[in-house]
Amino acid sequence: MTVRNEAELAALLRIGRIVGLTLQHMGAAIEAGMSTAELDAIGARFLQQQGARSAPILTYNFPGHTCISINDEAAHGIPGQRLIQAGDLVNIDVSAEMDGFYADSGSSFGVPPVSDARRRMLATGRQALDAAIDAARAGRRLSAIGKAVERVTRPAGYRIIRELGGHGVGRGLHEPPHAIPHYFNRAARDKLREGMVLTLEPFLTTGKPHIRKADDGWTLRTIDGALAVQFEHTVVITRGAPVLVTAV
Ligand code: CO
Ligand code: CO
Repeated sequence: MTVRNEAELAALLRIGRIVGLTLQHMGAAIEAGMSTAELDAIGARFLQQQGARSAPILTYNFPGHTCISINDEAAHGIPGQRLIQAGDLVNIDVSAEMDGFYADSGSSFGVPPVSDARRRMLATGRQALDAAIDAARAGRRLSAIGKAVERVTRPAGYRIIRELGGHGVGRGLHEPPHAIPHYFNRAARDKLREGMVLTLEPFLTTGKPHIRKADDGWTLRTIDGALAVQFEHTVVITRGAPVLVTAV
């Protein structure tokens, strides 16, 4: 969507804050030995208490309130009986709706004790999202986002998964523009415009920058079993720094 007035912005910020708080709450609850279904239930309860509805359920009838993806699972992991283990990289992606407005945020967490290599990957993932946020300004081309991200990730030795990108959001979970590349793609020539609501969500991997869908029909794993991390915010584009809708 494109934000047209203060009322729309306020409604978007309301659901954005709930999504951000849910992600924070779930991240703080992660413990080795807990199942991903238990972690999802914590998020489900929190969303319900705030009066929000899970967007993946609403939109896709996804078999979970949130997506929980571990290690080589990049995205759309189904919460279930899998137990979270010490050292795992756990990605939680929360998207939700309230009053017809949607927001989407994600973050990867290391379960202590976390190896130095994995810690460095998480830190670079956060820096990659920060670089995307810095680059996303009205008047620039979509390709500026991937260029800024790769300026951070390439020297650090990570690659950006090609098939996964940012997207419009706001009145639905996935709106145009679809597949905003977070690797440099000179073909992404469309310009960012003031008021555009979109997600920034680089997916870093230590291996080949591609995914395949698992037999469960949802989970997207890296093609070579390499680790993946993702950090995501919903933002509103302005002439200056974007408004961070899901930051808390
Ligand atoms: Co997301
Ligand atoms: Co998203």
